[in-house]
Amino acid sequence: MAVRATAPAAMFDFSPAPGQPKPELYAELLAAADAITAGEGDAVANMANVAALLGEFLPRLNWAGFYRAIEGELVLGPFIGRPACIRIPFGSGVCGAAAAKGETQLVPDVHAFPGHIACDAASRSELVVPVLRGGAVVAVIDCDSPDPARFDAEDAAGLEALATLLAERI
Ligand code: SME
Repeated sequence: MAVRATAPAAMFDFSPAPGQPKPELYAELLAAADAITAGEGDAVANMANVAALLGEFLPRLNWAGFYRAIEGELVLGPFIGRPACIRIPFGSGVCGAAAAKGETQLVPDVHAFPGHIACDAASRSELVVPVLRGGAVVAVIDCDSPDPARFDAEDAAGLEALATLLAERI
């Protein structure tokens, strides 16, 4: 991976190598997310850049981004993809299940998930990982794919490591 911040414009150039094994890909994604959020205290800026990284590093996604936990519901945060549902109650859909349980939701077929919220009709599979701070869910990271069963346990482990990294930065 090439990580380059070009002064004075501070342009970041993250170039994941194509076709790498997922653990390596996620290690590079994590390093890029660490580099781009380190020392930046603005949560929106950090979520926006990490959403962009998800789109650059992870193939076959139609949506990737954040929902923030605010007063018992999830509110749309920075993302890449089509415009999405703005507010999701805890317990509703895949994101709401992740937030209510504080557990990753790996959904190979969204049509088989009771209560799935179809923000983008193209979505076929989904992975949602909670971001926990002090034991409380403060956000979820949501990735959608147009391919059935796009995500596996390695994707879940990778996004969970990302969630841990971001817990104090968003
Ligand atoms: N499908 C999600 C809603 C969010 S969108 O996918 C961006 C859900 O069921 O919670």
